[in-house]
Amino acid sequence: MDLTGRVAVVTGAGSGLGRAISYRLAENGAKVVVNDVVEAQGNLTVEKIKSKKVKSKNGEAVFSQTDISKWDGAKDLIKKAKETFGKIDILVNNAGITRDMLVRDMEEDDWDKVLDINLKGAFNCCKFATPYMVEQKYGKIVNLSSRAHLGNPGQANYSASKAGIIGLTRSLSLEFGRYNINVNAVAPGMVNTEGIKALKKYDMIVERALKVTPLKRIGEPEDVANLVHFLVSDYSSYITGEIIHITGGRY
Ligand SMILES: NC(=O)c1ccc[n+]([C@@H]2O[C@H](COP(=O)([O-])OP(=O)(O)OC[C@H]3O[C@@H](n4cnc5c(N)ncnc54)[C@H](O)[C@@H]3O)[C@@H](O)[C@H]2O)c1
Repeated sequence: MDLTGRVAVVTGAGSGLGRAISYRLAENGAKVVVNDVVEAQGNLTVEKIKSKKVKSKNGEAVFSQTDISKWDGAKDLIKKAKETFGKIDILVNNAGITRDMLVRDMEEDDWDKVLDINLKGAFNCCKFATPYMVEQKYGKIVNLSSRAHLGNPGQANYSASKAGIIGLTRSLSLEFGRYNINVNAVAPGMVNTEGIKALKKYDMIVERALKVTPLKRIGEPEDVANLVHFLVSDYSSYITGEIIHITGGRY
């Protein structure tokens, strides 16, 4: 699924899924704007793409250190993409955090931070990227939801943000379909990333997940990159407004 000539923005691309997705898009010819709040991590993703360590076709990538939960941060990110590569074809809203705890312990800031980054951040980037996509009558947006949109104890903030991503995705698909812009969401189950490995109860969570996962393994970042690659390619040009679960069969 060739992406030569396409320009992609991937948020939260200094780690985990965002990094794997950036590598995959670069490997298939896209020029990638790598976004993250953590400079060293984002730069590492760019370096690997440029040095062709990821078999990147043209090795074109640039880092943008902005906080996408902020209106101006998202605006700057999209502006940088346009100024550097002249257009934006693909937007992957991947940046996300967890702050897991029971509601009885959850404070206002725990709710606000998760919703601001996971949901408002995706909205912000769509807000500033879509005018360019409308103008060129072409765009592919993929939003990272999660299987957690179904609800999980200890994840009221995270689950709400990922359910919100579904509403955002559906609404955008309805507003922008007439401009040949596809908007879809992916909802992974547990995937082996830095973010997941850092969880306090990682071993227990994996053990529990495996019991209810028909494919009997947790996901790898490349599994999700495969799906995102399909959704940003022209092989999926008649698919929009969908939420595709990638969970090893777990519900
Ligand atoms: N790993 C999983 O099991 C899993 C499952 C379902 C959904 N997801 C979703 O996939 C996405 C990526 O998850 P991951 O596991 O790779 O996480 P991760 O923690 O490994 O990476 C997330 C990246 O986002 C960056 N980031 C955080 N706040 C940001 C901000 N305000 N602006 C820009 N960048 C910011 C972080 O610095 C980090 O590099 C998230 O949206 C997550 O909710 C992950």
